Amino acid sequence: MERTSIKAILAGGIILASTTMIIAHGDVAPQPVDTAGLPETGEEWLIENPYRADKVGEEVWAKAIEIGASGYNQNCARCHGLEVVSGGLAPDLRFLEAEEYGDEWYAERYRTGYTQNGTTKMPAFEELLGQDAAWAIRTYIETRPDGDAMEEVADELKGLRDQLAGYATDASGADPDALKARLSEIAGGIETLSGAPVADSVAFRAAKLVDGTPAGYKSAAETLTIGLSATQ
Ligand code: HEC
Repeated sequence: MERTSIKAILAGGIILASTTMIIAHGDVAPQPVDTAGLPETGEEWLIENPYRADKVGEEVWAKAIEIGASGYNQNCARCHGLEVVSGGLAPDLRFLEAEEYGDEWYAERYRTGYTQNGTTKMPAFEELLGQDAAWAIRTYIETRPDGDAMEEVADELKGLRDQLAGYATDASGADPDALKARLSEIAGGIETLSGAPVADSVAFRAAKLVDGTPAGYKSAAETLTIGLSATQ
């Protein structure tokens, strides 16, 4: 599930990157965000992200990231940058504090957008996408890994990727517990820029996929391959 979602996000991103060049960042129709599977937030606007792992558990949190990734890449990336790495057109949202203060400001901007001298610089998303999508996107944004930290471990992750790819065809001699532990350790060293406690890095994802089966090794290797090429 996670493997396909990353692929879908990246595929979406690539299509997005090419269309962006043609239509610039002007009027692009908002893309609906399917939030099925997330607890509904209701009518009243919250001032804090309700989809954090400490509130809804890791499974719903992971779902929010997945939904938020697609929502973000379709509605926000053309201005705020692919993978939330700003190209300078609009602020880099990875730095928005993952606590009430940052959330309140996030919700404010999301709901009302931004208009300067009569020109809409950012559309208001309150009516367009609603509240559940808002917090799913927020969850995705705040869990982006620090790119510099990713670069530091890229070589080791490439090495692990090669090992995992090998075990996908021949798992004799593999030590899944050790591999999982090392990936988790690397993941634990990669921080977010928002202060959110866990970064949704490829190391984090790969660690969860290693289960001792050839299919698990294959998914983990693919997750690392995709993630490592995206950070280059
Ligand atoms: C058409 C371009 C555009 C799109 C699309 C867009 N934004 Fe923005 N956004 C901007 C600009 C420009 C600003 C800076 C406004 C300002 O100066 O306060 C901004 C500011 C923000 C801020 C405040 C950041 C800060 O550090 O003060 C948030 C939060 C935000 N956007 C979220 C989003 C989200 C979430 C989406 C997608 C659902 C989105 N934006 C889509 C252009 C855009």
